[in-house]
Amino acid sequence: MSFKVPKGTQDILPGQTEKWQYVEGVIRDLCDKYRYNELRTPMFESTELFQRGVGDTTDIVQKEMYTFEDRAGRSLTLRPEGTASAVRAYVEHKMFGQADQPVKLYYTGPMFRYERQQAGRYRQFVQFGVEAIGSADPAIDAEVMALAMNVYTSLGLKDLKLVINSLGDKETREGHRQALIEHFQPVIGELCGDCQSRLEKNPLRILDCKVDHKHPAMATAPALTNYLTEESSAYFTKVKEYLDVLDVPYEVDPNLVRGLDYYNHTAFEIMITGDGFGSITTLCGGGRYNGLVEDIGGPAMPGIGFAMSIERLLLALDAKNIELELENHLDIYVVTMGESAKLKAVELVNQFRQNGISADMDYLERKMKAQMKTADRQEAKFVIVLGDAELEEQAVNVKEMATGNQQKVAFSELVTYLKK
Ligand code: HAM
Repeated sequence: MSFKVPKGTQDILPGQTEKWQYVEGVIRDLCDKYRYNELRTPMFESTELFQRGVGDTTDIVQKEMYTFEDRAGRSLTLRPEGTASAVRAYVEHKMFGQADQPVKLYYTGPMFRYERQQAGRYRQFVQFGVEAIGSADPAIDAEVMALAMNVYTSLGLKDLKLVINSLGDKETREGHRQALIEHFQPVIGELCGDCQSRLEKNPLRILDCKVDHKHPAMATAPALTNYLTEESSAYFTKVKEYLDVLDVPYEVDPNLVRGLDYYNHTAFEIMITGDGFGSITTLCGGGRYNGLVEDIGGPAMPGIGFAMSIERLLLALDAKNIELELENHLDIYVVTMGESAKLKAVELVNQFRQNGISADMDYLERKMKAQMKTADRQEAKFVIVLGDAELEEQAVNVKEMATGNQQKVAFSELVTYLKK
């Protein structure tokens, strides 16, 4: 019997994990600069949270959730995204009462969606996301988008496109909704079953249909832009002004709709352009969700955020041949010859590590040549060879691998020498 990872999941092995850590470090530093603080929430929540938060008519809730009953019969769901959980935590811990609003949060962690597996689409993937809750200032919309773009550009990615749209406010959406119903009513029989049930419940979702996206009625559907209220338009204009000030280039796409129900006003996605990337080109998505905090049982507090998967970010770096500057941290490798030398090596290696010097040695009693090869492969900065002569002298030649220079150093002076 042989076991494999479940479909749509992957092991991330040493060699890859270093890249993850690097990217996660860049993200942490950026969040610190923008003053977003980390939030950690459980990996599962009550199913109802997502039904309400993400929306009953979305693909995520209808087809993609990992839902199960626990032993006490509660319906729980592995989180498919992070916004509903962040808002739940914001309400549960009364963060709306904090003196400083908006509350700026970020998270990284695995999300779960039962999707068709392909390059860039997994059933377990890691999202980095941010949520700024408690401000309806268009400047924060621009800040959030700038932060998302900054993650990519600070890693050296260039061929990016920020696509934005306004989904307007309640009134906008109601007007547009009516127009969509009227538009699709005559052809609804030609569309899939899902679209048919969406017509009354949430006709905007029809535009997002993966089955019928080529139906001619899609291209002629009434654009939301034509239904924007004056306030919504003014808000959108401000958002664009702030993006200009931040020097973040963008394109307006009136057809951009998102796969989750909570959005209004600003919606955006970041795409990768040019060669080298597969069919999935969306790296990041987000938008404003005024009303969600109330839907989840809190006070009327507006919010905006985004999420991106680390998997797609790494795929993008690969596709564009961007090498991360990963550092190798082996400071010293201790080569041993004989049993007494081994005893001393264990002592020295321990001493090095306790003094913040990374060190390793052989545990297979291999010949000196094999040990030297390991030191080379691991790109040790220094190597020492311990044998009977060195023990007698209580000193050893320290070889700097980059230059080949050797220096005799007393055992008692090794830490001081290496630290210099
Ligand atoms: P989303 O568009 O569903 O939005 O997902 C955001 C990002 O998560 C995508 O752009 C992609 O990078 C990544 N992603 C989604 N599904 C998969 C998958 N199956 N495999 C790999 N990566 C995937 C949200 O999740 C919202 N919560 C974003 C948000 C935060 N809006 C406001 N605040």
